[in-house]
Amino acid sequence: MASVRQQILEKLQEKEVMIAPPALETLEQQERAMDLVGELLSESSELVISEQAVNDFLDSKTAGKKVVQVDVIQKKNYNPPAKSVEPQLELSVRDSDISSKSRCTGSVDDFVRHFRNRFRKQRDVLRGIRSQASGIYPLKEAKSGVTQREFRVIGMVYEKRVTKNGHLLLEIEDEETSANVLAVKDSPAFEQAQKIMLDEMLAFDVRASKSSLLIIQRIVQPGAMLQERRKKTVEEDISMAFLSDLHVGSRYFLQENFQRMLRFLNGEGDEKEKTIAGRIKYISVAGDLVDGIGVYPRQEQQLVTKNIYTQYEILCEFLKNIPEHIEVIICPGNHDAVRTAEPQPAISEEFRRSLNGYSNLHFVGNPSRHRVHGLEHLMYHGTSVDGLISHSAALKEGYEHPEQVAVAMLERRHLCPVYGEDPVVPEVPDLMLIDETPDVFHFGHVHKLGYLEDYNGTFVINSGTWQDRTDFQVRMGHIPSPALFPVYDMKTGKIKVLNFL
Ligand SMILES: [Fe+2]
Ligand SMILES: [Fe+2]
Repeated sequence: MASVRQQILEKLQEKEVMIAPPALETLEQQERAMDLVGELLSESSELVISEQAVNDFLDSKTAGKKVVQVDVIQKKNYNPPAKSVEPQLELSVRDSDISSKSRCTGSVDDFVRHFRNRFRKQRDVLRGIRSQASGIYPLKEAKSGVTQREFRVIGMVYEKRVTKNGHLLLEIEDEETSANVLAVKDSPAFEQAQKIMLDEMLAFDVRASKSSLLIIQRIVQPGAMLQERRKKTVEEDISMAFLSDLHVGSRYFLQENFQRMLRFLNGEGDEKEKTIAGRIKYISVAGDLVDGIGVYPRQEQQLVTKNIYTQYEILCEFLKNIPEHIEVIICPGNHDAVRTAEPQPAISEEFRRSLNGYSNLHFVGNPSRHRVHGLEHLMYHGTSVDGLISHSAALKEGYEHPEQVAVAMLERRHLCPVYGEDPVVPEVPDLMLIDETPDVFHFGHVHKLGYLEDYNGTFVINSGTWQDRTDFQVRMGHIPSPALFPVYDMKTGKIKVLNFL
């Protein structure tokens, strides 16, 4: 079958009309491209279709088609059980939030201090993990052949390559020097070594060969400390719900579905829904609240609201409809109006002035950690997920199963293990480190619901999206799961997913 481009060109040839290359490129990227070409030809009498003509035509299609209208939900006497539960919320614990704290200028010193901080913290974690090895040695000593027995070295992976005999050679570094460690083909360590990412901090139990080469017997990740951890729950009969990737302002934002969910929160569902809604005490919102402006080329064609302030005004009107007894924790994502590089500070006051007085709406940085009824709650937008999927063959199903990517982060105890795959500011301390083990780990970004109720005691959730499938996702073959609303029962540790599509 002819490509969309060819079909468009044939149709234009039939009508003896020419087209400018950028105009053709824009048209072929549209959903229902051929229908649009038909409409464009019937409306235009020009002999050459310019880029401007296509942009104006597409604008006229979106204008008026999806004017965002926010319903004001009349808050009647709504007294659900969660209303009588006192909130127990400590925001941004252990200085885990970069908001108004960024000191980094991107100097060489900043990078050195950042990597040292990351190295030392993860080394201490790795040192604390039980080992059958005879001792832990710095690389400098290990290279000079300390013992014939098995021993442990700790290092950050600098390079990884396959030798001509098919073994895997890793160059690792500590604060003094670097050394090579070898995973022998077909050995138990080989499969583990294949999944190693660059910049990862690992402990290697090794034996020195006759030629002083360090042969890997076992590889230990910082996440090994998580094993045998029991899941924590709370005493109170309450739930936490999860949202992310609303993309208000996009022509694909599912506003009607979102409003239906807000009505549900206000007790306007059937009896079963009322019971679920009535227990929700917290909502965690993990970024991409609005679609933003200029996030990717020609984004304006995908927007209904082309002013960033208006996008946030609309978002604020929606947020005002969340019942006041629900505490809402909101961090930004890569589409929001803060710096793109992580860690990102909270969305600034200038975008949410109309929320003054709404004391249940809390804006925090990305990532950040909170204590909710004694549970450690880690929220992260998830921008690094793209880089991790492209870096690791083991994560090739990551867009379908984002929870697998979260596990890869927990195993490495780092939200962005491969430096540079995603823009990260070298802050000190490294806030992308997973220092405390989360009881709830919430992320978004990939627009796909995915969860694990109990991964070594952690509830892992990617909350999907409230944006319909975009042209970009069609081209990439990504299938999102819009308008699903996960609700986590903090007492039983079980999840329910409501469908508002
Ligand atoms: Fe998103
Ligand atoms: Fe995102």
